[in-house]
Amino acid sequence: MLPKLFLVLCSSIALSTTFNPSNNACTKLRDYPIKAVSKNCFVNPNVKSRTPKIIVQNRYPFEAYNVTTTDGYKLQLFRIPPRENDNRTNKQPVFLEHGIFVDSANWVYIGERSLAFVLADQGYDVWLANQRGTRYSREHTKLKDSDHKYWLYSLDDLAQYDVPAALDLIANVTGKAGSIVYMGHSRGSTVIFMYASSNPVHARRMLKGIVAFSPIAYFDFVWYLKGLSKLGPLIGKVFLFFNITVVNRHMEILISLLQVLCGYVPHLCRFGLTLSSGRTVHFLPEDLLAFYSHFPSSIATMQLTQYSQMSVSNKFQKYDYGKEKNLKKYGQAEPPLYNLSNIIVPLVMYYGKHDILIKEPQVQRINDEIGGAVKLYKSVPIGVEEDKLQYGHNDFIWAGDLDKSLYPHLLESLKNHMSSN
Ligand SMILES: *[C@@H]1O[C@H](CO)[C@@H](O)[C@H](O)[C@H]1NC(C)=O
Ligand SMILES: *[C@@H]1O[C@H](CO)[C@@H](O)[C@H](O)[C@H]1NC(C)=O
Ligand SMILES: *[C@@H]1O[C@H](CO)[C@@H](O)[C@H](O)[C@H]1NC(C)=O
Ligand SMILES: *[C@@H]1O[C@H](CO)[C@@H](O)[C@H](O)[C@H]1NC(C)=O
Ligand SMILES: *[C@@H]1O[C@H](CO)[C@@H](O)[C@H](O)[C@H]1NC(C)=O
Repeated sequence: MLPKLFLVLCSSIALSTTFNPSNNACTKLRDYPIKAVSKNCFVNPNVKSRTPKIIVQNRYPFEAYNVTTTDGYKLQLFRIPPRENDNRTNKQPVFLEHGIFVDSANWVYIGERSLAFVLADQGYDVWLANQRGTRYSREHTKLKDSDHKYWLYSLDDLAQYDVPAALDLIANVTGKAGSIVYMGHSRGSTVIFMYASSNPVHARRMLKGIVAFSPIAYFDFVWYLKGLSKLGPLIGKVFLFFNITVVNRHMEILISLLQVLCGYVPHLCRFGLTLSSGRTVHFLPEDLLAFYSHFPSSIATMQLTQYSQMSVSNKFQKYDYGKEKNLKKYGQAEPPLYNLSNIIVPLVMYYGKHDILIKEPQVQRINDEIGGAVKLYKSVPIGVEEDKLQYGHNDFIWAGDLDKSLYPHLLESLKNHMSSN
């Protein structure tokens, strides 16, 4: 009798120590539905946390700055400044610009593996963009985000207004105009290509170099996006006719739903990531809910429309409003092209061979057209040929092996081609 009771007592204690309803990360996808009791699951404080909180709970200093663009959008920039006791003299500013459907959390949500923290550890002064329309940059001097006009902006507008406003602010605060390194993922690369080719003088005054991950100026879509992209310009036109200027405006609702849903059907949520990025063996199951804490963010219809216009025309061009409005806006019937040869600062590009949006020829085309003397591009993992291991579009943000496959080469490139010393 007594031993039996003892056994029951012991097992209930054991159970109570493994039972944690707050668990939100599992090292195996199949454990998510039983995450409260599985020994493969734990509490990841970065899940459902916003960028400022993630930075602080990873024990980095944090600052926020506000800047208003000349067209009225109020943007928040986040900063991981150098630590006060850091005696390294360089402290070169690095500005990280996120891609489409995400925000600054993209650069920090995988904790110590995150690029923002790796750069901070190297003594860089790290700045994070939050583009207009993200949850951190939703205000405007006149418009509200419930007003459809708030969302009437293209990629050109990000390049024309958001990028220089942020660079001016960084230059003012740090006093380091000319030594800023810009790093952009996906759309973050598109807008710097647009900005630096149309404002080459300002770009040269601000930038020491550009690093682009999954660079987007030209497309070669995976099969299941090919048809959609051809219809994109038309779909965009219909949406805009009905004043549907934003997709997923109520992002917080969708994200809350996905937090619950992905707990039950983690494989489905993982499949969503494959569809939107490309085949990969590098995504870690424990990052699932942390990623779905800031993805998908709201996105302006005009940006998706412009990307599909670019893919149909196979040109790196401004927004196509149609002949009549183009004539009024640009003084010509066709949208003007961005001339990449105007970019003369050093450019380093990293891409993945499993990217669903681009292939090597598109990266090479950018490289060929760029005007600078220092330029190079690499597929990641660098020097690895095995098909299974190639990166997809978003592996640059979430891969488990970034510290081996990307960061050593990246840090070398910064020292060799973009150092301000
Ligand atoms: C920046 O603006 C946000 C609102 O968009 C506000 O909550 C925050 O306090 C402002 N920060 C600073 C440093 O002024
Ligand atoms: C930086 O220098 C100060 C004063 O020389 C010293 O007290 C401090 O330990 C140094 N910090 C680091 C991280 O080396
Ligand atoms: C930066 O400083 C210049 C000169 O003081 C000023 O005109 C400009 O408005 C400042 N820009 C930002 C974004 O702070
Ligand atoms: C879209 O908004 C404009 C005002 O900006 C309005 O004139 C127009 O009627 C609206 N179109 C539709 C289809 O609701
Ligand atoms: C881009 O600019 C260069 C000179 O700056 C010029 O030679 C070239 O024709 C331009 N390309 C296009 C497509 O306009």
